[in-house]
Amino acid sequence: MPSGDVVRLPVSSSDVLQGRYDGKTALKDEMAHGNPVLMRTLEALGMVGPFTMTSPWEMTDPRGHSTINAGGYAAIPFGDQYPPLWDFVRSYAQNDRSLGLPQQSASTWRAALETNLIALVSRFLPQHKDSKVFFSNSGTEAIEAAIKFVKAARPKARHLINFKGAYHGKTFGSLALTPNPEYQDMFRPLMPNVTTLPFGDADALEATVRKIGARNIAAVFLEPVQGEAGVIVPPPGFLRAVNAVCKRHDILIVADEIQTGLGRAGEWFASAAGGLEPDIVTLAKPLGGGMAAIGATIAPPKIIARTLGGFGKRHSNTFGGNSFSMAVGLKSLEILVAENLPDRAKRLGALGLERLQRVQARYPGTLEAVRGQGLLMALQFKPVLPKNLTPGLAELVGELSGGLGCRALYVGGITANFSLSAKRVIRLTPALTMPDAVFDTLLNRLEATFERNPTGGHLLRHMPLDRLVRLGQIAFSG
Ligand SMILES: Cc1ncc(COP(=O)(O)O)c(C=O)c1O
Repeated sequence: MPSGDVVRLPVSSSDVLQGRYDGKTALKDEMAHGNPVLMRTLEALGMVGPFTMTSPWEMTDPRGHSTINAGGYAAIPFGDQYPPLWDFVRSYAQNDRSLGLPQQSASTWRAALETNLIALVSRFLPQHKDSKVFFSNSGTEAIEAAIKFVKAARPKARHLINFKGAYHGKTFGSLALTPNPEYQDMFRPLMPNVTTLPFGDADALEATVRKIGARNIAAVFLEPVQGEAGVIVPPPGFLRAVNAVCKRHDILIVADEIQTGLGRAGEWFASAAGGLEPDIVTLAKPLGGGMAAIGATIAPPKIIARTLGGFGKRHSNTFGGNSFSMAVGLKSLEILVAENLPDRAKRLGALGLERLQRVQARYPGTLEAVRGQGLLMALQFKPVLPKNLTPGLAELVGELSGGLGCRALYVGGITANFSLSAKRVIRLTPALTMPDAVFDTLLNRLEATFERNPTGGHLLRHMPLDRLVRLGQIAFSG
């Protein structure tokens, strides 16, 4: 650009705020400059948005179709623009005078959230009363920090253990702990020495410890309930048994509570409730109240010391601990406590699961299985085409079955989540604050959706042919 020319940006913030930059233009620009494959897929499924909130729990698309929001990948604990959080943010913007990025100073917001998180964690896990919090900006970063902490704390132990179906993130370290060939294969070699065991089998863990040698294993990473695997609740006693093996052999335990923690699974910490005494706890999603990006890795001084020794420079990031995120995290914890949301999730979740089980029993032609703990619920769809296909085609049919299931729910008035590591499983993760009446409507809509779609054939027939063709083109283009 010749010097002296004025830079003109195509879109202004006031255009967006005042609605002059409309949804149609936004979608066109997303296709041009964002992630076109994702946008085309969602468009083919008829659920691309962008959406407008009509209440914290409900939204409409540009055609005026309204849905109850049971999506958000477990990161929306209160719904969107929940007044107690939203009012706080307004007042923060008006009144706060602290540094936005207090990287080289103490910070009131960060200190307050650290203090409250440790008080909360140590109420359920007293061994964490002197623990420290390391803040980052996402779940995967919280796991990256945990990987470094355990490796530095046990420098001679080179091995890590994880479980089949686990999802710990997709950055390079966490990817090695997310044993899904679709995510891993293109990026090999991954971080080495990760041993993956069946989830739910503590004997396999004991046998592996004997084989590899306890002194060679730094840590076991696990989710107390596997979320992205399709809400896999381990058999009773599994978490306790893992705990016993690890404590007996001095192997560190990292409880990944990024999806389950802070109420989603009906407990403050599903790991502690299940009898696990983790050395490290990772948190993210709900801590940001559905609007700020926060990851937190909580560990005692003796584990953190080696990584964060040396003036604390061996692990750091620019934005972790920023004042806005910390303020939102502080208020979010406060709302979770004030409204006793873990208990609410437990109560609504139990009602929800009972209804889902009844729907599954009535419509086994579409719904293969349902699962749930708290407000983390799964609908496993039957394959919409016969199973005896080549493995590649079976994968595509799995993807299609989940996609059509999610679309059918959307058409029926529910926005739901795909499951990143289970193609035929659609998850419902409604806000923990969802009023009883809205939750009841959600379940009624769900039942009506399966009434309209008693078999996989109905799911296929209800999908317009042109959309199906577009989906097929996308599937075969990658
Ligand atoms: C258990 C668990 N760990 C880690 C992650 C990664 O979090 P993020 O997507 O914020 O990187 C997720 C995300 O779904 C998760 O469910």
